[in-house]
Amino acid sequence: MAEQIQKKPVKIVETVLRDAHQSLIATRMTTEEMLPIVDKMDKIGYHAVECWGGATFDACLRFLKEDPWVRLRKLREGFKNTKLQMLFRGQNILGYRHYADDVVEYFVQKSIANGMDIIRIFDALNDMRNLQCAVDATNKEKKASGRGHAQIAVCYTLGDAYTTEYYVDIAKRIENMGADSICIKDMAGLLTPYAATELVGAIKSAVKIPIDLHTHYTSGVASMTYLKAVEAGCDIIDTAMSPFALGTSQPATEVMVETFRGTPYDTGYDQQKLAEIADYFRPIRDKYLANGRLNPKVLGVDIKTLLYQVPGGMLSNLVSQLKEQKAEDKYYEVLAEVPRVRKDFGEPPLVTPSSQIVGTQSVLNVIMGERYKLVTKEAKDILAGKYGQTVKPFNKEVQKKCIGDTEPITCRPADLLEPELDKIEKEMAQWKQQDEDVLSYALFPQVAVEFFKYRQSQQEGVDVTAGKDGAYPV
Ligand code: CO
Repeated sequence: MAEQIQKKPVKIVETVLRDAHQSLIATRMTTEEMLPIVDKMDKIGYHAVECWGGATFDACLRFLKEDPWVRLRKLREGFKNTKLQMLFRGQNILGYRHYADDVVEYFVQKSIANGMDIIRIFDALNDMRNLQCAVDATNKEKKASGRGHAQIAVCYTLGDAYTTEYYVDIAKRIENMGADSICIKDMAGLLTPYAATELVGAIKSAVKIPIDLHTHYTSGVASMTYLKAVEAGCDIIDTAMSPFALGTSQPATEVMVETFRGTPYDTGYDQQKLAEIADYFRPIRDKYLANGRLNPKVLGVDIKTLLYQVPGGMLSNLVSQLKEQKAEDKYYEVLAEVPRVRKDFGEPPLVTPSSQIVGTQSVLNVIMGERYKLVTKEAKDILAGKYGQTVKPFNKEVQKKCIGDTEPITCRPADLLEPELDKIEKEMAQWKQQDEDVLSYALFPQVAVEFFKYRQSQQEGVDVTAGKDGAYPV
């Protein structure tokens, strides 16, 4: 009988070059640390390597003084056989506001032109209206260039509105929107193994496109969840090489590969080769442990995440925000405030940018000693409907306290935006050395200009920033 079971190797997306280091070391892995191992990674047979998007773009420009486009091109050059994958926040692209459609389209076009294959597109509020533009742009590039795959991710979260029917309905809509695959994106490790059986089974029977499950190890159940999900028909799972796995990151690649060995789901990956890759990343992990960037606090199992529903990246952000405020003792108080703020804001999934908005507001509410005494601009915007529609209504009282009599919007937020690409390009013309610079500037104007100044000083050997914002090495 066993021979008759149809082989269905589970596909693996390796996250060590994006989500793993975003979740564990605040996205600080440098291109230089990545490149020497690319050739070995390229020979594993991964379905894809996630290596761009999410917070990598911002971190490159802001902290690492690297051009994210150069990183993408170098990775493309190195990964000759493996598909590259990125994370794309719908109408926010990789930034923190809504962009006009022309910027979204141009970003998709340039990402694919520079070597990106799979674009995982999601919206923090699961407002599908915020995804269509990026999906259409990806499909257009696919048609024109043969490269490009639009994956739509639905953020997985818990709450009254988030029933199996809710996810099945969204999955059908995702298929109808023209996505090539669907991702269940569980930022906080909330999906438990038997819930995965039900959820994946239900979605599998409702749609034909492949299902990818993305989760985090935070609450400790993630590898069991993958096992049950794969048994229920999940096609693709996201894992990280062991030195950057577990904790707030993903289950370990080697462990999942071994789990499915000899079963119909066998990946066929070579453990010896995986071990060599792990050997490469281990000293890098040790370096970040030694310099404090990798906080042991995010490495364990935090079962409270099931209660607070806080995603991995957000946990490490909260720790560093509180550290800066010298209020580390308020950690658990802030964690308890998070679900309350979330309810006030229409119970959105917690993922960038809603995770930052809810997280920062929770920190403010605790540190100020009064809820919503100080309200961030982003929190006001979310309550004014500027990020889109939430599944549940806002807390009216909180809404009133934060935005007063401002009339909230109900349309797709980008419908109110005029094309802005030309204006942006004019604004930054003096810095432009390549088309992609326009997009770096569009997403992070101040940070990009700082980077452009740095780049120029490197090229000219003179420090144009001297005496202004401090000197860069030249
Ligand atoms: Co993730």
